[in-house]
Amino acid sequence: MTKAQATSVTHIDDDRFKVTEWRFAAGAETGWHVHGHDYVIVPLTDGTLGLDVPDGAPFAAALTQGIPYSRREGVHHNVTNAGTAPLAFLEIETVADATAHRRRDTLVRFMAAWNARDVDALMACMADDCAFHASVGPEVQGRRFIGRDAVRASYAAMFDTFPEAAWTADNHHVAGDTGLSEWRFIGTDKTGKQVDVQGCDIFRFSGDLIALKDSYRKNRS
Ligand code: NI
Repeated sequence: MTKAQATSVTHIDDDRFKVTEWRFAAGAETGWHVHGHDYVIVPLTDGTLGLDVPDGAPFAAALTQGIPYSRREGVHHNVTNAGTAPLAFLEIETVADATAHRRRDTLVRFMAAWNARDVDALMACMADDCAFHASVGPEVQGRRFIGRDAVRASYAAMFDTFPEAAWTADNHHVAGDTGLSEWRFIGTDKTGKQVDVQGCDIFRFSGDLIALKDSYRKNRS
């Protein structure tokens, strides 16, 4: 059974801070995520968080209204409201690098556009002068698609090839002009063949937009 999702409202998103209010119905979860910044949580209610972590047993943490706690960048978990009442908290992230923050937002939008099968939204994330290097192809770089028209056609072809496709378990990182998105692709192609592999994209940015998407994925045997 799929759990309900926690909902979020962004209150502040500037060059120094991102402040997000999270609200959870009983049993709702955030989904797996990695924190890209140091952060402070300020509980708006009492409650109990259930925390799943990649290596280690799940555990519970009590929230007390108005009593904050801090964590460092890199925390990786899925957070669930383990209580029977709704709970809420403010997440206050310190945003050290505004450019990296905006570029990371581009990667999050880009991933959402893949899952929405929205080619216009994908291209809105791409720079005017852009390219895509596919994970498969005859060249050292895979198959290369150069320029907006070629990139758009290759993205549309991906949706034609995979009537069902989901990019899950995504994590996004930015360092300088380079971005990295990790993902697990689960899809079914036109012939009914199922694909389920981990992969990643290495990106080059031009401003806040993607100049190059360079894709890699596992070759299952
Ligand atoms: Ni978290």
